[in-house]
Amino acid sequence: MLESEYQPRRRLPRQPLPPTQPEPGFAFEIRRAGPEDIPDIREIYNHYVTNSVVTFDEKPMTIRAWKTKFAFLRKLGHPMLVAVSPSEQVLGYALVQPWRPRSGYRFTVENAIYLRPASTGKGLGAALLDSLISASEEAGLKTIIAVISDSGAEASLALHERAGFVEVGRMGGVGFKFNRSLGTVTLQKTLKPNRPRKSPESETKKRRTLSWRRSKPSGA
Ligand SMILES: CC(C)(COP(=O)(O)OP(=O)(O)OC[C@H]1O[C@@H](n2cnc3c(N)ncnc32)[C@H](O)[C@@H]1OP(=O)(O)O)[C@@H](O)C(=O)NCCC(=O)NCCS
Repeated sequence: MLESEYQPRRRLPRQPLPPTQPEPGFAFEIRRAGPEDIPDIREIYNHYVTNSVVTFDEKPMTIRAWKTKFAFLRKLGHPMLVAVSPSEQVLGYALVQPWRPRSGYRFTVENAIYLRPASTGKGLGAALLDSLISASEEAGLKTIIAVISDSGAEASLALHERAGFVEVGRMGGVGFKFNRSLGTVTLQKTLKPNRPRKSPESETKKRRTLSWRRSKPSGA
């Protein structure tokens, strides 16, 4: 560029900046899931079905499949929790389901925990898992098993170990997704059931807010 082509730097008129708002805290409440939460739960789970290997499901789950699962877990009295924002947006969910169908395994469950991507890394997973463990103990369950993908699930492994889950085994190449073989890490936690298990019917009629409430500064 020639010297004669230089233009004096344009000065833009001053514009008032919007007043800076402090970033709102990351607040949430954990409560039992209800049927009205199913569309959000499905959306959260299907994000990981489509985009990750943290679940070995390959096809998005339908609302109908979630309704069936919800009714099944409710009948068994197995806890299913959601974490919601102050505006009642579902940020994540956690549930336990039977580990094996044979009746002798009835006190042993497998857990699942999934958060909206924007809600990860802020301590919500730890809070939700702690609540799930308490709710499972309250339901008279004795053991929770976590089966975690050996690829891309570092947060889940750290989360479960932090909550006292102990690794009990690894299996290589038992899964296949996105054209690659995947293994699993199995962790186990023994619970302290604090009351005898009620009949599933009496358990299903309850839907209440857990006492757990947490507010944490964003990004902490
Ligand atoms: C796994 C998941 C539930 C964890 O919840 P989270 O809110 O992100 O995790 P938290 O912020 O509560 O952190 C829990 C622990 O994991 C650690 N952690 C979090 N993200 C991590 C990461 N990407 N890599 C390694 N460790 C991580 C934290 O440091 C913390 O440990 P600490 O208490 O010793 O510091 C969440 O990330 C998620 O939904 N991931 C996608 C779905 C998924 O993988 N589900 C589990 C399927 S088995």
